[in-house]
Amino acid sequence: MTETHSPGFHSLRTEVSDETAPVEGTVPAWLSGTLIRNGPGRFESGDERVNHWFDGLAMLRRYSFEDGTVSYTNRFLRTEAYADAQSGNLSGQFGTDGGGWRRVLAWVRSLGPPTPTDNANVHVARFDGEYVALTEAPRRVAFDPETLETRGDFSFADNLPEHITAAHLVDDPNHEEWVGFTTEFGLSPQYHVYRVSRGSRRREVIASIDARGPAYIHDCSVTDSHVILVESPLVLSVWRALAPWNEGVTDLLDWRPDQRTRILVVDRDTGNLVADPLVDAAFTFHHVNAYADDEHVILDLIEFPDASIVGAMSLADLDGGFPAVPDAALTRYRISPDGSVERSRLYDGGMELPRVARTVVGREHRYAYGQATDREGANGLVKVDCQNGTAREWWERGVYIEEPIPVRRPDAESEDDGVVLATALDSERDRTVLLVFDAATLELLARATLPHAEPFGFHGRYFDEL
Ligand code: CO
Repeated sequence: MTETHSPGFHSLRTEVSDETAPVEGTVPAWLSGTLIRNGPGRFESGDERVNHWFDGLAMLRRYSFEDGTVSYTNRFLRTEAYADAQSGNLSGQFGTDGGGWRRVLAWVRSLGPPTPTDNANVHVARFDGEYVALTEAPRRVAFDPETLETRGDFSFADNLPEHITAAHLVDDPNHEEWVGFTTEFGLSPQYHVYRVSRGSRRREVIASIDARGPAYIHDCSVTDSHVILVESPLVLSVWRALAPWNEGVTDLLDWRPDQRTRILVVDRDTGNLVADPLVDAAFTFHHVNAYADDEHVILDLIEFPDASIVGAMSLADLDGGFPAVPDAALTRYRISPDGSVERSRLYDGGMELPRVARTVVGREHRYAYGQATDREGANGLVKVDCQNGTAREWWERGVYIEEPIPVRRPDAESEDDGVVLATALDSERDRTVLLVFDAATLELLARATLPHAEPFGFHGRYFDEL
């Protein structure tokens, strides 16, 4: 197959283990730990190409830091989806005809045994000491965090209903638990919000909420006392899903702006829905963070004006360059106890893949980091000061920054004392680089060059110790 695709969407075929990446500049000596990221690594099987970026085969990437050095490992998950692709069958789940998504729906239809896709290419987490790759189908795959070798299916020790599940869970260090949610179809569809305590692999239901639709929801956030879901009017058409001619999940989604967006504020202890204000229709993949002050709940989101982004991530569109859909913006909602809501924009530029320092998850944050998406021929890095509305930015032509991850210096006192780690595609050199920035100034401290160009990934986590 000729490689006419845009940089970042080329399939990768090589795997390397513990390869030392040459470093220009200086990686701080205190940085000792491991960044593990997930994302699609291959888009073809035989002559067939998956239709949607979200459907590439899961490839884990590991960047380890020790005494100023960087070592790198990448490995595809050895899943059923991988074996299928080796034998010429594509089985994606998001926008690929005939893929695992339809198998999920076949399951819904027949109430037969579940066979959703195991192509867990979206995120990673650690439950009860086990490292797990996650996607939105209810299959999870355990892996070895040192070698990235696949260990096999991971199952929670519970029977929580889930037809779709969030690959994003909030890792809340202040409560020593993970918080996530599932979506259950049926005559009265529901979102089930749950927690998983550290050292447990049992999900405990916090709340079950009646869904409108249900909607497609990708992420959530917490405060010390709440869990927050944002239900955009991007509705999963279950009836159309049951038709035999559907073409994957993007054809099953209806944008119904008249329904508006509903913000679900759930009491984290009692499970009560304490507020559910309706606001103007907008679409969100990612939450930045949330927190409660004396009276209000403050919720920061990355918000698109509509849901055109979801269809625009098809590879056919991406091969023509990044899609011409509106950028997302860092948006703050201030929710009063009476349910009234104030909305404001915190940063004027385009932004995605937001992160805050782990220590402020669910607490008042000052700084949000993210990918700056409005550069010509590049994706930059941006740090927004959410208190005073100023921003610092870094970008270089031809360099496409992925999700930035802030890592605090041990014993740091201020929120931004540490580094920001970001992988990036250097399209001119056709290599992925691991960039280390000063988290306060965004000064580039080090650039480690990897032995190949990775396809663009999605999300990852930094672990101090494996
Ligand atoms: Co995501």
